[in-house]
Amino acid sequence: MSKPLVLLTHPLPKTWITALEGKVHLEVGEEGFAGFSPKLEPYLPKATGILSLLTAKIDESLLSRAPQLRVVSNMAVGVDNVDVAACTQRGIPLGHTPNVLTDATADLTMAILLSAARRLPESAQDAKEGRWGTWSPTGWLGADLRGAQLGIVGMGKIGQAVAERARGFGIRLAYSNPAKIESDAVHLSLEELLRTSDFVSLHCPLNESTRGLIGEFELKMMKKTAILVNAARGPVVECDALLHALKEGWIAYAALDVTDPEPLPASSPLYSLKNCLIVPHIGSATHGARRRMAEIACENLLAGLAGEKLPHCYNPEVYA
Ligand code: DGY
Repeated sequence: MSKPLVLLTHPLPKTWITALEGKVHLEVGEEGFAGFSPKLEPYLPKATGILSLLTAKIDESLLSRAPQLRVVSNMAVGVDNVDVAACTQRGIPLGHTPNVLTDATADLTMAILLSAARRLPESAQDAKEGRWGTWSPTGWLGADLRGAQLGIVGMGKIGQAVAERARGFGIRLAYSNPAKIESDAVHLSLEELLRTSDFVSLHCPLNESTRGLIGEFELKMMKKTAILVNAARGPVVECDALLHALKEGWIAYAALDVTDPEPLPASSPLYSLKNCLIVPHIGSATHGARRRMAEIACENLLAGLAGEKLPHCYNPEVYA
């Protein structure tokens, strides 16, 4: 019997996908290609599985060109690159990779929050470029953490892991979330959270209700001394409004792991701002987290090919 044809949208280290060895016929997209590689296009009509990265758009049109598809396995917890409704409508289970990147993403969130609060990029640059005079009592003053309020928008697993870390710094916690959860953090409306928080950290999924959630109106609501952290998805924040906010001092600082678009072009004016730290979507970029994400993506894929329930299925209603 011939092996099922699987399209891997981007190359992955062999050691991360050993579970697929001998079980599938893999066609692999191009390295560094942001999107669904044209190289894979001719294989779509016979493909039974797709293992995708978050940079590959899996939309209705692509699904319609892959009539034999039995599973889409996304190597990410977020699935905003996939048309979930179209998958469900076609009875295609969609796999994703929750839990294994929670710690890595929460760690990175704290890293960029602390970098912003203590002005690390700016002070390191000053030291390197000869602007470190004598020890200065007023030089590079940053924000105090103990007693400050961190407002977490989206109190899912990653939001809660950020809260756990922030507690260790003596930070007071607030959150806004559609559902109230059991937590020592105070549940606030988004507006209250934005008005009262010293740091605001975004951890909500990107969907129609969160796209552009933080725009001019919301940024103007925030404290002028506030630091905004985005480790969710770029389009949750309106890019132009953020630029104005940082230039005109509506807020003090933005620390971004995600941007809109991605990659953010080198010509973006955001890079030239001293009060904006941008890292290239590295929230889950630890050896352990990325390997586990790939392994879970393989488990989901193989289960889908075998007609079994995916261990981590984003649209379990396909089984109803
Ligand atoms: C995800 O898995 O959705 C993350 O954004 C990857 O870092």
